[in-house]
Parts: sequence; structure tokens; C-alpha cells
Amino acid sequence: EIDKKVSELLAKMTLEEKVGQMTQMTVTNFEAKGQPGVFDMVKLKEAIQNYHIGSMLNVPNPGAPTIQRWKEVITTINNEANKTRLKIPVLYGIDAIHGSSYTAGATLFPQQIGIAATFNTEIAKRGSEISAYETRASSIPWVFSPDLDLPRNPSWSRMWESFGEDAYLSSQMGAAMVAGFEGNDVGSKYHVASCMKHFIGYGSTTTGKDRTPSIIPERVLRQFDLTIYQAAIKAGSKSIMISSGEINGTPVHASKHLVTDILKNELGFQGVVVTDWKDIIYLYTRHKVAENNRDAVRISVMAGIDMSMVPEDYTFYTDLLDLVNKGEVPMSRIDDAVARILRMKYEVNLFQNNIADLKDYPKFGSQEFIDVAYNAAAESITLLKNTAAVLPLNKSEKILVTGPTANSMKYLNGGWSYNWQGENSDKYAADKSTVLEALENKIGKQNVLYTAGADLEKENEDEIQKAVALAKDASKIILCLGEKNYTETPGDISNLYLSKSQINLALALSKLNKPIILVLNEGRPRIISDFEDKMNAVVQCYLPGNEGARALADILYGDVNPSGRIPYNYPRYTNSLEKYNRKYTESLGDEEQNNDAQYQKSYSPQYEFGTGLSYTTFEYSNLAIDKSEINHTDAITVTVDVKNTGKRAGKEAVLLYLSDKVASITPEVKALKRFEKINLEPNQTKTVTFTLNQKDLQFVGEDLKWVAENGTFNIQIGTQNKNFVLK
Ligand code: IFM
Repeated sequence: EIDKKVSELLAKMTLEEKVGQMTQMTVTNFEAKGQPGVFDMVKLKEAIQNYHIGSMLNVPNPGAPTIQRWKEVITTINNEANKTRLKIPVLYGIDAIHGSSYTAGATLFPQQIGIAATFNTEIAKRGSEISAYETRASSIPWVFSPDLDLPRNPSWSRMWESFGEDAYLSSQMGAAMVAGFEGNDVGSKYHVASCMKHFIGYGSTTTGKDRTPSIIPERVLRQFDLTIYQAAIKAGSKSIMISSGEINGTPVHASKHLVTDILKNELGFQGVVVTDWKDIIYLYTRHKVAENNRDAVRISVMAGIDMSMVPEDYTFYTDLLDLVNKGEVPMSRIDDAVARILRMKYEVNLFQNNIADLKDYPKFGSQEFIDVAYNAAAESITLLKNTAAVLPLNKSEKILVTGPTANSMKYLNGGWSYNWQGENSDKYAADKSTVLEALENKIGKQNVLYTAGADLEKENEDEIQKAVALAKDASKIILCLGEKNYTETPGDISNLYLSKSQINLALALSKLNKPIILVLNEGRPRIISDFEDKMNAVVQCYLPGNEGARALADILYGDVNPSGRIPYNYPRYTNSLEKYNRKYTESLGDEEQNNDAQYQKSYSPQYEFGTGLSYTTFEYSNLAIDKSEINHTDAITVTVDVKNTGKRAGKEAVLLYLSDKVASITPEVKALKRFEKINLEPNQTKTVTFTLNQKDLQFVGEDLKWVAENGTFNIQIGTQNKNFVLK
């Protein structure tokens, strides 16, 4: 049905109308001079009526529109589209990455890194369902989410936008988010098209700086990064954004091999391929693989790009017209791109339903949605250390709350919140609690002392001394450290250590011999090894969103039992950035080297992937595999009993790791293959069942094909492990 409509419409279109559809402009281009948020109607008309632009993105000034304001904005744009010959609506896209995060009053969830830490795909799905609802309430049918990047260098400034370092976890979470966004009917008024990003290898920059080159062998790309996209494509994602980076010397925007041969042909992706911001222009201004704009347009469109995000002016349009007219880009390539764009417009039902009727969205910003965001934060916050059960705290004790991240919403939400860098969270989330406010609400203002103690970056001894003086009147110290809000290149750093101003505060407080609870609010693991041994407890909050501080306070005081697990290795040293699924030569590999202290030191993350403590204890027993020997078509069923042996109810993420003992490509020490989060009352036991299939035993060989090799495999769950043999 949709395909028929697409070909009928395509048949009516002129070349100009087609090429226009491939253009996506920023709404800020159409602002009247000196009048923030007011459209320059002449410019808008020109874009839509003369240049036939197909799409728009970004947030109009002054930022964070209400749903009423969004309705006016989108109506103004689509009124112009309705005046065109074919009345093709303009597709609006937005960076709603942790909730409808550009709309005032929307529900903001933990950022993706926290969602990964829940190890609960239901949370990922429900969160993006709500995000879809609230984005449609904003009259927007397309979100640039989920982020499927696999960060290989933790200093990368977009680490927190990902699901962490593991490809399997990322693929499960990514697929769950896509399902939540798109539902069974992406055209319904409660769903949106998702956009997988940033295809591919974006998170693997060698320098850790955003948009710098990666070196990734295709074998590795296929075994890890590509599987994440495959899962999201299978879940039905309608579009994909291309990485601004380059791999092995080829910018992805210029790679026909990656975009057409692999993504469109091999993976069969039928949706829209959109560039990232200005990235066609960057092919000649930054990457230097094109002589000029015309050359860059040809290279990228022939690589398989369907839509150009923010070409800034109309040179993408004029150059592409010229390229087609001169036969340098075939009409079939244009038709393919435009058919994909039109299909998506029909799929999201844009021709019928492009403006929200606000009375259809009574749950926008509702308590029901806020509770879901709260639960997501509560399941994401990860207890990394709890010496002598210093946590949970006692409500009658006086505490000192200090540290630069203690009293601002900016550090709870991070980037892409209300605007690009997220600096307006205090304004738009003024009714939400900062960590300080949540703790005051919890135990009463009279029990909470506060001083900032340090700036995020600037060293200030007077500030530290104020904190030290106040600490004398407190029994325990809640030390809130972390990072500023950021995304993309403004978040680049050259040193993964936490800033000196904050380390100095931690060291000064540690001399007081009072228990310190370190609360981390950070998008990436800033190294804390200079003072970690002096902290009695460490709680990783990541970027937990608007409800995060309440969840944290409930965890610190034991009203909620923590159940998050960290989705990456937290490094101890800047030169030791090994992943948990390292190779044997990176860590303790065999008995001979087991005693070699130097060798052991080579792999010692501060906290390993999957670390996450609870206020109760869980015991694993009876790990069983239904077959001890299998052939190449068998699946295996693995069961394990998990018992809550403590005194309080708790949630436990049960993780199954697999090790291939010997393989022609050096095997990983262990690799996550399954997980399930369960809830256990005290003394309750549950049997968890996992099924593994052949694909789980395979890796990508030198010939770039998936293969499972005969031999012994080991399965580990909790404290248990067992072998089986593939014959
Ligand atoms: O979606 C984003 C992308 O992640 C980074 N560059 C800009 C895009 C649109 O805002």
C-alpha cells in the first residue's frame, strides 16, 4: 500500500522537487534577524516553495518550547508545505535522546549509559514509549535516537550517549528502544520513527576526541559494531545517521562500501540514511577527500546518503541538480533516496497526522511518566563500593553535602537537555530536586550542611577549607563529584583524571577521618585512583535525569535497594583502558602467569564491567547445561538458581558470560551473551533459564565470515561455571 503511494508520488515529482526532499535545514536558519523565535516568512517560503526542502531539525530560540509552542512552529512550517504543488509535508526531527528532552515539561529519563546500567530492557522500552508519546505531543514524528555507538576509548565525549562498551548489551538495549519508539504502528499518534546513530565506528576514535579518526579492522567492525545495528534494524528502525568520523582513512560519509554495500545491500536496510550536521561540507573542508562542495555531494550521494543534514545553504541542492543533469549521479540513485524519504513520511502518517491535537496527550509530563523515569534512575544508580556497610545511612545523622555537582540539575541531565549542551536544566527543571535538595527533603534541612567545596575545574583552596570546617559538625560526608554538562567536541578532554580541584577536595576531606560517600555524576569514567581508597562508599549515578536525585537519596538511605551494574570497565590508570572482554594476553591468562605480580597489574580496572552491589546478598547455585556435548545445529539451555540470602528484597541482574577456550582468532577472556533482571524477596530462590544458539558460539574469522569452531566452551554465571564441548 505504502510502496504504491510512494511510486505514484515519485512519478509526479520533478527533479527539483526530488532533490529538495533530500535537504534537511535547521529551523534556526529561518529566524527573523534580531527576533529570537520569530520566523522570517520570506526565507521559510523560499526554502519550502522554491527549494522544496524535505526536512527540518533543531530547536527554535530561545530553546525548550512547550508543546503549545511546538505546535505553532510545526504548523507554520507545514502551512507552507501545504501551499506547494504536491503538498508534501516537511519531516521534523529532534534530538529527543533521554525523553522528549527538548520540550519544556517533558519527562526526562537517565541518559543511555544509565539505561544500560539497569540491565533491564523493559525499562529501555517503556522509556522510549513515553518519549515517543511526548515527542508526538510536540508535533514531531522523528527522533535521532537510539545511539548505537560502541565507545572504545572512555574519554570520548559521547560515551554517556551510548550503552557502554559491550556489543551484546548495546544490541539488546538498542532494539528495545527502537521497539518503544516505533511500537507496532509507527503511524499512530503515540509513536515516532527512530534514527540509529552514528553508523558506524564513531565511538572508536583513537585520540578519544570527538570526530577524530578510527582504525577498525572490518573483522572487528562486523563482530561487534555491526551486530548492534543489525538488531535495531530487525526491531524496525526507520532511519540511520552516518558517523562524522573516518575509519581506516575513509570518512563514513564517503564510504560506498559501508553505506551501500554493507548497510543497504547486505543488511537490507530500507530506511532513510541521513548525514550528520554539515558532514557533506566537511568532506572537503575537514577530511580533504573532496576538492569542493560539488565533489563532496557526488561522493556522499554515490556512497548512499539519502538526506543531507544542514548543508547550510542551497549548494547541496544546486550541485546535486547539476550532477544529475550532467549524468554524474544517476536518476536511479535520486529515486532510491527520495523513495526512502517519502516512505518514511507515509509510515509515520505525516500526510494525515502532522500536528498534535493536544487533548490527545493528557499524560504529557504526568506523575505516571515521572514514576517510570524515577524507577529507571533507581535501577540504574550503581553501588560500586560499600566498605563496612557504611550505606545505607541513618536518617538521624547530620551530613555534610559538598562537591561541585551537588546542587545543579545540569549535572544530572547532561547534554541534549532543553538545548544542545544542556546548560539550561536549572531553568527548565526548576521544580525538580538537585542532590542537595533531595537529601534535604529526605532527612530535613536541619540535618544537612552544604557548601560547594570546589569548582568543577578551577582550584580554590578557600572553598576547600570551608568544606573542611563544616565537615567537623557532620558525622558523614556526601561528596558529589563529576563533570560539567557537555556533548560532542565541547566535551573533549585531554586528561581522563577527575579535575585537580575535585581531587584536592576529596583528599582534604579524607584527612578528617569521617566516612565519605563519593557520589559520581559523570558521563564517562573519570579516573579517581588518587583517592578512591580513602572513600568508604562509591555510588555511580551517571546522568540520571530529572528524577535522579530523588532516586539517589532513596538509595543512600536504604528506601531503595540499588541494582545497577556498571556497563563499562572503570579504568584505574590512563594507560590501561582494557575492556572486560579483553584478550588473554591483556590479563591473567594461564596458570604460569598467575603468579606474576607484574602481569596481574596489567589488567586491574578500578571497577570491572558488571560490578554493582546491593544491600542484600545473592547466592548462585546449581548451574546446569542441558547437554555436555553439542553439534553445530544444537541450541543449549542453561539454568541457574539464584537465592536472596540477605534480609531485604532486592533486584539482581543475572549475567551469563561465555568463553571460547581455543579459537583461530584469539578468543575473548569472556563475553556477555545473556542477561536477565530478577526480583527476589528474602530467602526466595528463582531458577533463571537462558537459551544459547549457534550464533552465540560464533566469531568473525579472518575471511569475514561467522564461524563456530569445535572445542570446549565455558559458561559463567555469578560464582558458578561449567564447560561444554562443540563437536
Ligand atoms: O543527532 C545529532 C547528532 O548526534 C550529532 N550532530 C547533530 C545531530 C542533530 O542535532
